[in-house]
Amino acid sequence: MSASAPQRAVLPPDIKARKGGAPLVVLTAYTTPVARLVDAHCDIALVGDSLGMVLHGLPSTLGVTMEMMILHGRAVTRGLSHAMAVIDMPFGSYEESPQQAFRNASRLMAETGAPAVKLEGGQTMAETIAFLTARGVPVMAHVGLTPQAVNTLGGYKVVGRDTEAAKVMADAKACEAAGAFSIVLEKVPQGLAGQITAALSIPTIGIGAGVDCDGQVLVVDDMLGLFTDFRPKFVKRYAELGKTAEEAIAAYAAEVRARSFPAPEHAFADSLPGKSAS
Ligand code: KIV
Repeated sequence: MSASAPQRAVLPPDIKARKGGAPLVVLTAYTTPVARLVDAHCDIALVGDSLGMVLHGLPSTLGVTMEMMILHGRAVTRGLSHAMAVIDMPFGSYEESPQQAFRNASRLMAETGAPAVKLEGGQTMAETIAFLTARGVPVMAHVGLTPQAVNTLGGYKVVGRDTEAAKVMADAKACEAAGAFSIVLEKVPQGLAGQITAALSIPTIGIGAGVDCDGQVLVVDDMLGLFTDFRPKFVKRYAELGKTAEEAIAAYAAEVRARSFPAPEHAFADSLPGKSAS
């Protein structure tokens, strides 16, 4: 994205219309400063429920609450002028019924300003996706590995090999038929992701799903290398900020202990030359 001309904000129909066009660029964002960075280069800033693990140290996304999503969603929309915010519906906020999903999706949109929500699940969520889209809630679907189902899936494994492939395809088609404007394919084998992308008229956004998707999404902290010990195969690290931060903090600690920080240039004189102290 060029920073030269102001552009109007991206909306779900713009994303849907990008099917088969220039790849969609998506990163997660959970805070205003990161949203500003993402806004300059991406089509979508995803307020993912991954924030529970990335920011809050939770063991999975299952403990993420509506309040957490609203707090971070507000911070993100404050930092955007072009990219579209999509906000994840947290575990337990939509699975019970389409009515429960509408209540919580409309609250997420109204209280954060995000123009769309994302929810996990394929055929079982189709009725809910149809209910939401018919009532003004644009839905990004999410199939393949659905982290909120980690306990039923038995871990964060690739989903869609061999006999599972037909189910993932059917899940994706059900979301499209229900009215989703786009769909995340997470940890799906590359060949299957390509087949799903060819079979759907809505854009697929891959994470660990190969290059044939209509777009790509990564967790921003992962691609910036903010964690020194977390290296999933599908993440390319574009920076090593964790290592840089660790070195900076170590240097600061050493200088404080050696009394070499603050140096005179970081301190304030008792009186300015030529002026009496006030
Ligand atoms: O929560 C999240 O960050 C996500 C992406 C990984 C797709 O759902």
